Amino acid sequence: MIAPYGQEVVIDIGTGDGCFICHAARQYPQKFHIGIDANASALAKVSEKIHRKPNKGGLPNALFLQAAVEDLPAELDGSAQEVHVQFPWGSLLRGVVNGEAGVLANLRRVCAPQARLQILLGLDPVRDQTEIARLGLNALSEIYLDQVLLPRYQNAGFAVTKKQVLSSAEWSQVASSWAKRLRGNSERRLLSLTAHALEIAPVT
Ligand SMILES: C[S@@+](CC[C@H](N)C(=O)[O-])C[C@H]1O[C@@H](n2cnc3c(N)ncnc32)[C@H](O)[C@@H]1O
Repeated sequence: MIAPYGQEVVIDIGTGDGCFICHAARQYPQKFHIGIDANASALAKVSEKIHRKPNKGGLPNALFLQAAVEDLPAELDGSAQEVHVQFPWGSLLRGVVNGEAGVLANLRRVCAPQARLQILLGLDPVRDQTEIARLGLNALSEIYLDQVLLPRYQNAGFAVTKKQVLSSAEWSQVASSWAKRLRGNSERRLLSLTAHALEIAPVT
């Protein structure tokens, strides 16, 4: 299925309703797009849609899989040139915000050499305080990012090459149902982390 697309594979983990994958698959027909989510019910509708005829909204270059980031299929190892995590919640959110070794190792595992990892976080310290406390999330201060989180990514085989807070105008350019849902909330900070898989995976 992936073979005709050569080395051009994009994976979105915690894909939800698959909005990002469908948008990207339409925009880049030469790439193969895989949306993954732990929750099967989120994927049901879009999985049916992509299998329609192309003139009825079908997308032959897209696929959706039910899997948790903690348990990604081995068939995906080393496959992706791009890995996205957008507006994660639950254990996926905890893994990327706290830099959990197991979650980062699995993100690294699906990466091809020099793949790009793109993470978008939209946390509101007040509105999300219950969830932040429940998950034990570290506050995303500059000091925490530079001194704790980025080194954890480095240890997992990712060099973080860019971190930026996106402006409210940039929210509207994000192809994500959650971006649309959250962007009216001015207290919510949209943090973008871009990393690249290091050539040689670290020995763990
Ligand atoms: C807030 S939604 C965001 C959905 C989509 N990325 C978007 O931007 O619209 C978070 C998604 O992460 C998924 N998720 C949570 N924990 C996960 C895990 N451990 N592995 C994979 N997906 C997970 C949830 O099922 C949910 O669909």
